[in-house]
Amino acid sequence: MKKIIYSLFILLFIISCQDSNLTEKEKFIEDLISQMTLEEKVGQMTQINLTVIAKGPNKFSSSTPMEIDDNRANKALVEYKVGSVLNTINNTAQKPSVWFKNISKIQEISMNNNRLKIPVIYGIDAIHGTTYTDGATMFPQQITTAASWNPENAYNMAQVCAYETRASSIPWNFSPVLDLGLDPRFPRQFETFGEDPLLVERFGVEMIKGYQGLDNDVSNKYSVAACMKHFVGYHATISGKDRTPAYIPENVLTEFHIEAFKKAIDAGAKTVMINSGLINGIPVHADYNLLINVLRKKLDFQGVILTDWEDIRKLHDRDKVAKSQKEAVKIAINAGIDMSMVPYEYEQFFNDLVQLVDEGEVSMHRIDDAVKRILTLKYELDLFKNPVTDYKDYTDFGSKKHHQLAYKAASESITLLKNSDNILPLKGKPKILVAGPNGNNMRTLNGAWSYSWQGELTDRFAGEFNTIFEGLQNNFGKSNVKYVSGVSYKENGNYYDMVEDNINNAVREARNSDYIVLCLGENTYTEKPGDLNDLNLHKLQLKLAKKLAETGKPIILILNLGRPRLISDIEPLMSAVVNVYLPGNFGGDALSDILSGKVNPSGKLPYSYPAYPNSLIPYYYKPSEVQNNSQGAYNYVGEVNNLYNFGFGLSYSEFKYSDLKVNKERFNMNDSIKISVNVQNLSKIDGFETIQLYSSDLYASVTPDIKRLRDFKKVKVNAGETKTIIFNLPVNELAFVNSENEFVVEPGRFNLSIDNLSKEISVK
Ligand code: BGC
Repeated sequence: MKKIIYSLFILLFIISCQDSNLTEKEKFIEDLISQMTLEEKVGQMTQINLTVIAKGPNKFSSSTPMEIDDNRANKALVEYKVGSVLNTINNTAQKPSVWFKNISKIQEISMNNNRLKIPVIYGIDAIHGTTYTDGATMFPQQITTAASWNPENAYNMAQVCAYETRASSIPWNFSPVLDLGLDPRFPRQFETFGEDPLLVERFGVEMIKGYQGLDNDVSNKYSVAACMKHFVGYHATISGKDRTPAYIPENVLTEFHIEAFKKAIDAGAKTVMINSGLINGIPVHADYNLLINVLRKKLDFQGVILTDWEDIRKLHDRDKVAKSQKEAVKIAINAGIDMSMVPYEYEQFFNDLVQLVDEGEVSMHRIDDAVKRILTLKYELDLFKNPVTDYKDYTDFGSKKHHQLAYKAASESITLLKNSDNILPLKGKPKILVAGPNGNNMRTLNGAWSYSWQGELTDRFAGEFNTIFEGLQNNFGKSNVKYVSGVSYKENGNYYDMVEDNINNAVREARNSDYIVLCLGENTYTEKPGDLNDLNLHKLQLKLAKKLAETGKPIILILNLGRPRLISDIEPLMSAVVNVYLPGNFGGDALSDILSGKVNPSGKLPYSYPAYPNSLIPYYYKPSEVQNNSQGAYNYVGEVNNLYNFGFGLSYSEFKYSDLKVNKERFNMNDSIKISVNVQNLSKIDGFETIQLYSSDLYASVTPDIKRLRDFKKVKVNAGETKTIIFNLPVNELAFVNSENEFVVEPGRFNLSIDNLSKEISVK
């Protein structure tokens, strides 16, 4: 008996010690959870669309001005105890004061009428600036930022965006996109940092730092919680269309798709959103292995796992892995989902999940695990004490200081792809015709997720900024620059088509001009509305280009697009080609400064620009993509047909690389390789150059990629100057993932290259 009492005493002592080891945050949350009913817990796991609780005809559309409907809000937030709200109403940006009023109301209803006074967490898509806030600073989209090859631009964007999102009373941002943008057909390539895993990692980590602050203290009222998305493999579909099946071997997933998430998790990312598609036949929202074994256990992710839009529903409705809605809920929650972006039929999700727990199909332990993570996030954001941030405290919202950072990012990204006879920069004050559907609007400069989901409202909200036409007028004189569209976009529901409006006028004006600045590309789109059946640039745009070329006047082609549309037919007719991607509200100014020579271009492609529709491979292809056989019975030549290669971009300066050196020839696994190269600016103009270090594994147990980017540095090299650039590359960064799904460096020979210089080394 004595022994039992003694052991009991020891046990109690251990428990009380453990308890006192809990941090204040952990104690607060444990205490809260211990008081919560099942219904209160399930409410925390539910996220609804704002329209569900806003005034208006129904839960899909709302009346303006935006206002919370008391009855609807009480039902959702109090009766059903819903813990999270997202999005805006009618897909439209709102003023900070409107956000403040409405989110204050949401918190009031939730905190005053629920016995435990748990605040709502509001989430939004603010992916290149605070998308849904009128007056916010719109930066270039991620693909453009990647083209700057300067991760500092990603940091600046995220920091400003965090500030302006908090100025809109919103603490949680569904960004950054860490998907590998490897397919030019995919309608969301512009939301990525491009096709290279290292670029995605480096820029992704800067975004986390910018959003969450350098110490990840998101209680700071200038920081937001980041949401990495879309875990994982979202863009690697067979068809190139949104949310269609992908087939990805485990080792490829690990090496190319998961690493960027791992780096962002290590950087402290608080939340993650799941890929809305399916991999190897399994919807990712139902994939226990990916969510638990990989994300939770292998990557040690402790934050909140959120679904994408209606994705639990889709396990039944679309993907047919669940026989009923209720089974869909069971599969997803048991696979590791913490919060469901329902976002409309919340009553059904709520009732299903409560019943599943009552029936023992979902354990209370799983529910507590999810709720603990959600409440931890709310606590860390300081929402219990400060549920709403007030726009009046954010005097830098939409400020000049923020605008300058957005301009800087645009001017460092714009990529000069062709410059015959150094036609650019344009000299003097020539007569310029601006033509093409992208020449005189703010919409196409910004892309989707700008003031609305598909970006169609941009010209209404961003009228004060300069289009390409207006930017050129500012630098070259109003009377010297004319605009004739030639062809333009025409709405057709969520999709768009093109119409020919005045090609003849454009040709006539061209004859009276010295230069034609032809602005072609795409209208705005994202997700399903951006799916594509033909990667070629629209035939009317090609027609316009050819007609203008017949005038014999030099054409500067401006590409304003979210993905590389094919232009091989017209490219030989162009004197210069400049890719502005989706440069945001300052893209018109930045381009104009580049064309006039105020800014020396320094962007480089973050993707391979294909030449043909059946040659769409990233630069890290396997050797068998290129098979030459001119000796045998058959004669064939395989080629990688890019119009412009990954990493390519010209400058007004001329750079020469020389003296590539490696500190030794043989390396051990734990060594670091020191590589140096000289870069000389042969021209009379100062410029920025991005030095790119690639490696090629010569032989390996898994066929090696032709080459892989291992490091890069963007440096300023003044006119006439020579700079020595040094890289220190740990040998383990030469690793690939083998058939056992392990990162390995296999002993053998490697080629290291910078520009067209290379050196071989061996590793043992
Ligand atoms: C998109 C996500 C986005 C979510 C919320 C989804 O349709 O795939 O990227 O965060 O909607 O708006």
